[in-house]
Amino acid sequence: MTMPDRLIDRFGRVHNNLRISVTDRCNIRCVYCMPENVEFLPKTSLLSFEEIAQFVRASTRVGINKIRLTGGEPLVRRNLPVLVEQLANIPGIKDVGLTTNGILLAPMAQALWDAGLRRINISLDTLDADRFLELTRRTGLEQVIEGILAAKAAGFDPVKINAVAIKGVTEPDVVPLGEFCRKHGLELRFIEYMPLDAGNLWERDKVLYAHEILDLLTQGIGPLAPAADHDPKAPALDYDYVDGGGRVGMIASVSRPFCMSCNRVRLTADGKLRNCLFALDETDVRTLIRAGASDDELVRALCESVAAKWEGHEINTARFIKPERLMHSIGG
Ligand code: 5AD
Ligand code: SF4
Repeated sequence: MTMPDRLIDRFGRVHNNLRISVTDRCNIRCVYCMPENVEFLPKTSLLSFEEIAQFVRASTRVGINKIRLTGGEPLVRRNLPVLVEQLANIPGIKDVGLTTNGILLAPMAQALWDAGLRRINISLDTLDADRFLELTRRTGLEQVIEGILAAKAAGFDPVKINAVAIKGVTEPDVVPLGEFCRKHGLELRFIEYMPLDAGNLWERDKVLYAHEILDLLTQGIGPLAPAADHDPKAPALDYDYVDGGGRVGMIASVSRPFCMSCNRVRLTADGKLRNCLFALDETDVRTLIRAGASDDELVRALCESVAAKWEGHEINTARFIKPERLMHSIGG
């Protein structure tokens, strides 16, 4: 196989975006993501920073230029800013981002910025302490809010706030989250609840759809209009408040799948390559790396994984099969 210089799949999609889960551990237990009791990977299963950097360096040869670090909760991985710096300094990497629950963020925000991190998404589903406890099975709302404010203070702009949208759960939080984000200049994004949860609690009827959220925001805060500079390839449908008070994004993964413009591949904490969030097959690159594979061999594994990518998830069909891996060990 001659090596292409870009990761283009059978449907013409160009992949430049690599999401790397750095740990499957988490310091909270969101009900839509993790079971209360969960067995974590042993430390030796995790890719080391050097192994991750080797894979990223190889992947830049086929056009990977954007990285996002995820978990579990990435900030529970020790010395994460060191990894950020290693990755940000790899020639060809334009941009390193992080998705975090924010609990450990306040004392680390500046170090992450200084290491070269420029994009940050913080998960926050509610501003009510009791509901936070219900949803995450842990306390920590105040630390998350401190983390959000610390990220702003460190210079991150925009700071994006992710809220999972669950019918019968999220409705009372929509307007308070909207107001909080307007007040602090944060970009709020609602993510339709997806079937990757531990307890098999997901049902179609439990998805709070993007259009329902828009109605709640319009009634509770004010009119929104589709953003003029909207990127049709981005997962989020962006809306701006007509009064100029900020932006809200809808990640309508269920009601409006964006698979046809997907540009992502994923590397799990234990070094498995996944060509889709919902993939049923994985490529074991950890074994390759630990056997001393060359960059060429890693690139070949990446190309083969992308070549085998399907058209898209089939959540909306009877054919849908829920992957065995849960959200916390994929990273979203
Ligand atoms: N459906 C939708 N989003 C989810 N997340 C975790 N589990 C789910 C799910 N079942 C989100 C988190 C976080 C990101 C990593 O993924 O809230 O923002
Ligand atoms: Fe942890 Fe994120 Fe999963 Fe919540 S969604 S349990 S914060 S990994």
